[in-house]
Amino acid sequence: MSIIPPPAPEPVPSVRDLLAFYREAGVDCALGEAAMDRLAEQPLPAPAMRERAAAAPLPPAAGLRPGTAPGAAMPAAPEAAIASAREAARTAPTLEALRALLAEFDGCGLKATATRLVFADGNPQARVMFVGEAPGRDEDLSGLPFVGRSGKLLDLMLRAIGLDRTTAYIANVIPWRPPGNRDPSPQETQICLPFIKRQIELVDPDVLVCLGKPSSQAILELKDGIMRTRGRWRDYHTGTRTIRAMATFHPAYLLRQPIYKRMTWLDLRAIAKALHETAAPS
Ligand code: URA
Repeated sequence: MSIIPPPAPEPVPSVRDLLAFYREAGVDCALGEAAMDRLAEQPLPAPAMRERAAAAPLPPAAGLRPGTAPGAAMPAAPEAAIASAREAARTAPTLEALRALLAEFDGCGLKATATRLVFADGNPQARVMFVGEAPGRDEDLSGLPFVGRSGKLLDLMLRAIGLDRTTAYIANVIPWRPPGNRDPSPQETQICLPFIKRQIELVDPDVLVCLGKPSSQAILELKDGIMRTRGRWRDYHTGTRTIRAMATFHPAYLLRQPIYKRMTWLDLRAIAKALHETAAPS
């Protein structure tokens, strides 16, 4: 009779292994000082009470969401937040004022989990403005858009047509990093939209370039995917005038699908040509 040895116990993961696992899974930011069992908090009200509970006004102390760090304001309901974003953005007379308003704005929940506001980089006098989707980890830490891997590729794309961050202006639809780089929700996008639209109006570029589908959907209101929409000139109404706008591939997409760099090159050349055509005669 042969004796089967018991299976060796699984090695206990080290703290380093666990952290690496969390980071790969996108869990890379802390929402509060203390760990919280979110499944244990707030038992659901009994069925008969649910309707009443939903209709009841929030007590004043409920300015914080359960689990929200003290000091962080609760985001307003989406409609109210969108309305107050519109109002705030409309009143900003300058880019500095807009940045200050955004820094004070509590209507978007992403602010609570982000490290920094990522407003813009580049030259506000530039004739071309590039708009991405939302900051990632590197941008969240530095406070500047497109500084990570896709930012390095964007810099190369700019350089290919004779531009850099002194001759281009760069921003995102969403100015706060979504936790774990998740996609921004439609509500978050709608809440942030008035701010980026006002930013475009204040920069007043001759040419606007939307990087990737989320940016072109939000700003140019294009429904199709980037493969169908890229490379075509559209009219964009800034609020004060109509400018030329184009959707092209997002550099993060090009890092995953380098084959599309060829098409991007066509778009970049069209952008360079448009800048040349609209340049004031010297
Ligand atoms: N991707 C974006 O859309 N924006 C950034 O700033 C960085 C990566």
